[in-house]
Amino acid sequence: MENLSLNPILNTLQGHIESRIPCWLMRQAGRHLPEYREVRARQKDFVSFLYNVKDVVEVTLQPLKRYNLDAAIIFSDILILPIMLGYKVEILDKIGPRVETIKNPSEIDRLESQVDMTQCESVYEAIAGVRSQLDRTKSLIGFAGGPWTVATYMIEGKTSKAFSDTKTFGYHWAQQFQKLLDILADYTAEHLIQQIRAGADAVKIFDSWAGSVPYNKFEDWVIKPHLRILDKLKNAFPEVPVISFPKGISLGHYQHYLDVVKVDCISFGPELAPEIVADELQDRVVVQGGLDPAILVQGGDLMVKEAHKYLEALQDGPYLFNLGHGIIPETDPKNVELLIETVRKFKS
Ligand code: CP3
Repeated sequence: MENLSLNPILNTLQGHIESRIPCWLMRQAGRHLPEYREVRARQKDFVSFLYNVKDVVEVTLQPLKRYNLDAAIIFSDILILPIMLGYKVEILDKIGPRVETIKNPSEIDRLESQVDMTQCESVYEAIAGVRSQLDRTKSLIGFAGGPWTVATYMIEGKTSKAFSDTKTFGYHWAQQFQKLLDILADYTAEHLIQQIRAGADAVKIFDSWAGSVPYNKFEDWVIKPHLRILDKLKNAFPEVPVISFPKGISLGHYQHYLDVVKVDCISFGPELAPEIVADELQDRVVVQGGLDPAILVQGGDLMVKEAHKYLEALQDGPYLFNLGHGIIPETDPKNVELLIETVRKFKS
């Protein structure tokens, strides 16, 4: 029987198959939208923008005003966690993040005494503000970074390609590095719990650089910290769905991850073919993803054809349509509109 309950994303996250496939897009609020760029131009810098509750509420809701999406994701950043731990973070235009680095492993022993949860109050206020203006048929997603991904910024100081400093640190100071991941996991869980208290309907862990973790450290650097987060989250809010995005890991690692970490939904990137996801993952968990955001820049027939591959392969199980990574700033909003229309028309 058709499920008539009002919130399509939450229903799908509970494993129900809806009469149409729900849809939201990573980085749906951001530079591809002229109305975002207008608000952005008013800010002193990106980090102070994140502390401006009124503007954060506005940009979080912008994509839902323009497009027929099923969820809002709170406008924030994974790098709020190092700020909470007492490290300076800047996000420079056209350059990217610059994070004050951990220079000495002994700093990790002092981390917990430096934690200042009030640094994240504005995120919770913004969530409450968005929830009060958002229709009940739409979900509000809270999020945080995966401990490994956040640790790479705290050690490299910026977005890395090879992650060699972080890996070297992890091998050489194995115990201290594990302690760093544990601390990050604990405060990530706390941050997600506060977001749920403020009104988030579901939460997502973005471990964007998980695919760079060597196989021999996958257990220690990805699985263990995620287990620690899940344990705390499910203890506090057993019914709130958790989406995890350990981006770029192999299919074998996805399967092992699902054996151990009991998330409600797994997000996948453009590396995995939709038929493989349907055959190997979707019978175990709700899936979300994985269209290449570069195809959205291209738009047109190629995009529609490619989107259909995902919709067709994944329609028989619980599936949330999404991209495999965030919308690229150069994307034309018309292409986003056509993509959402393509998803809406399917099955209806
Ligand atoms: O709409 C949404 O998806 C919510 C907003 C969101 C942002 N960052 C806003 C943002 C989310 C979910 C994030 C998560 C995030 N931040 C991740 C994980 C997801 C991913 O993309 O892999 C990572 C690795 C970061 C760290 C980060 N923050 C980087 C690498 C950058 C620079 C990227 C760039 O394109 O310049 C940021 C800045 C940032 N965070 C921007 C936005 C919209 C762009 C800055 C701007 O508007 O000036």
